[in-house]
Amino acid sequence: MTEITFLPSGKKITVGTGETILQASEKAGVMIEAPCGSCGTCLKCKVRIDPEHLQSVSEKRGHRLSGKEKAEGFVLACQTVVHGDITVHVPEAADDRSLKILSDGESFRYGISPAFTKKYDPASDVTGLFYEGTSVGLEPGDTERTLYGIVVDIGTTTLVVSLIDMTDGSEKGSVSSLNPQAKIGQDVLSRIRHASEEKGLSELHGMFIDELNRSIDALAAAHGVNRSGIYEIIFSGNTCMLHLAVRENPASLGKYPFIPVEKGHSRRHASDLGIHASPYAVVYLPPNISAYVGADITSGILATALGDKKGSVLFIDIGTNGEMALAVNGGISATSTAAGPAFEGMNIEFGMRAANGAVESFDIADDGQRVSVGVIGETAPTGICGSGLLDIAGELVAHGIVNKQGKFVKPDQTAFPPEIAGRFIERDGKTCFRIDGDIVITQKDIRQIQLAKGAIRAGIEFLMKNGCIESSGVTEVLIAGSFGYHLKTKSLFNIGLLPKEFDGRVRMVGNTSKTGGLAFLLNSSFRGKMADLVGKIDVIELSNCKDFDRVFIETLSF
Ligand code: FES
Repeated sequence: MTEITFLPSGKKITVGTGETILQASEKAGVMIEAPCGSCGTCLKCKVRIDPEHLQSVSEKRGHRLSGKEKAEGFVLACQTVVHGDITVHVPEAADDRSLKILSDGESFRYGISPAFTKKYDPASDVTGLFYEGTSVGLEPGDTERTLYGIVVDIGTTTLVVSLIDMTDGSEKGSVSSLNPQAKIGQDVLSRIRHASEEKGLSELHGMFIDELNRSIDALAAAHGVNRSGIYEIIFSGNTCMLHLAVRENPASLGKYPFIPVEKGHSRRHASDLGIHASPYAVVYLPPNISAYVGADITSGILATALGDKKGSVLFIDIGTNGEMALAVNGGISATSTAAGPAFEGMNIEFGMRAANGAVESFDIADDGQRVSVGVIGETAPTGICGSGLLDIAGELVAHGIVNKQGKFVKPDQTAFPPEIAGRFIERDGKTCFRIDGDIVITQKDIRQIQLAKGAIRAGIEFLMKNGCIESSGVTEVLIAGSFGYHLKTKSLFNIGLLPKEFDGRVRMVGNTSKTGGLAFLLNSSFRGKMADLVGKIDVIELSNCKDFDRVFIETLSF
């Protein structure tokens, strides 16, 4: 047996010799990202070992790390087998505690009328428990004032868990973490594949429930709340995430005709799912719109009152799935596009989550004489997160460093100021552009950004076409998702993710999956109303649109 100590968390685990660092980290509850599924290709599981411990490990196969990194003790956690006691330094970006996950979003005023209610009877000194008006149990004494709920925003990449006092609607606290299922697969399709087998489904479900319980325990302890005082939990997430959360096989989402088993607007006993809460607690799932437009978008539609808006309003959740909805005078159509994880910082050489050390903003002065780089946590940059990536792409295009086709121009053929010219770097015969320190953006990275933005733009074009509306006719554009309120809309126009005609009409609305989930928790009247609305939404399957490939290719250029 060998003991592995993970820093900076200080967590220790004893494992049998022959396990990889990644396997040990999972057992120790230490988050190390492994988006390629331990294939040794993504290099995102990079950790550092104290040099004196290097003789206690061996490589499964040759690392693709540079000689300098190897000399400094860096190894790939998925490819490094442990034979003796070691200390592993996990980069701060992989440590949940420094993650910057958006937990706020737009909402509206509504009355508090939860599905779970209590009524104290002084005569018998018991409190009656009711769910949707039906008696479900009794508690001794007066517990009327103890009525908590939980809202879980289940993202493919991140989780946000909020503890709510349902007597007055106040939020006691909120915690965010990476979705641990990302270790199995970064995107929805890889999780559907993994969960198609019973063992894989149990594994993914268990990972989610364990993380949820950790979050609930932490919130309860921090706010002096007994877990048995939690009576309802809302799961707001995409269709696949909701299947996994309630242990439903998502295989049907991966094959024609793509019909979800779990349609949402449904309830489960929290105890059946293994959730730390009252034995009477119920889990409510808002309605899913389709296999790839989930309850998180239903929550977004509720939070932004999209169905009640006048004019033509576009709602886009920029994430791995690129889900979007267009309301034209109250009638709503929706679609989703496979944007991929580039905007989450994945499949990008120096990509990382929005955590300490991530470049989150980038600006080149109009005259090209000055470059400003914004880094989360005021520390030395170690990578680039989604908003930084969008800014970088936008600025490179705006300043002619990358051309419309997405190729780096030849620096010697263009008169760039020295501040820009000095940032062109040749690596293995390929042009890169230096962002800060060793961090560069490569031609391959630019291609990934093109693919992601092209998918979202193509989705927008098809929604507008379906609604018989031109981009100039869209009166308001609401951007939800993890980028928060700080993303420069200029960057979205510069790279052509949004049509120029939207300029001046774009509003960042934050994490509406959470705020809509909160509305579902605090006012149960929204549940039936939204189920009716979702039944009327026109879902556009882009794979059935015969022009999709042509439009997608057209939208790839900047
Ligand atoms: S290289 Fe991808 S998980 Fe290790």
